[in-house]
Amino acid sequence: MLKIQKLHKSYPIGDSSLHVLKGIDLSVEKGEMVAIMGSSGSGKSTLLNIIGMLDEADEGDYILDEVPIKNLTEKKAAVYRNKFLGFIFQSFNLINYKNALENVALPLYYQGLKRKKRQEKAKFHLKKVGLLDWATHLPSELSDFATFTLCKRPDRIRHHATCL
Ligand SMILES: Nc1ncnc2c1ncn2[C@@H]1O[C@H](COP(=O)(O)OP(=O)(O)O)[C@@H](O)[C@H]1O
Ligand SMILES: [Mg+2]
Repeated sequence: MLKIQKLHKSYPIGDSSLHVLKGIDLSVEKGEMVAIMGSSGSGKSTLLNIIGMLDEADEGDYILDEVPIKNLTEKKAAVYRNKFLGFIFQSFNLINYKNALENVALPLYYQGLKRKKRQEKAKFHLKKVGLLDWATHLPSELSDFATFTLCKRPDRIRHHATCL
């Protein structure tokens, strides 16, 4: 599903550079759950940024669902990101001027689903997590628990192959 081989990444710092990822190998199979652990500054975010196609490695191979991820245009990267990757951020990243239903439905818009279908699907997911009564409320009106539950939904809704 996800295969990484001999991945290198450095950041330029003034005249020199900081070599953060030094030949990482990683393989994740379908259905496997993996936690990346390491002390602060060890390169976890750097690796996740590359896996999430937000950044590119300097050297090495990254293959996602048999597609080599290299030199992709922004457009192509966005297509793969939408198809394969879900992010659950430490901060919630809900859109504060959109209500709960609209937040959940947003990824479906980018997948090209018609409005009615988007609403139907988003309602189904809200119901599933007991938040249907909150569909028309803004994120600021939700409890912390409801916000947390909700912020996971826009990702789940896409049935992502990979969730970072
Ligand atoms: N954009 C950047 N420019 C320069 N150095 C960076 C950048 N991002 C991260 N670093 C450095 O790379 C190292 C790894 O950072 P990071 O991947 O954020 O580690 P972690 O997520 O494990 O805490 C750290 O020393 C950090 O200061
Ligand atoms: Mg980090």
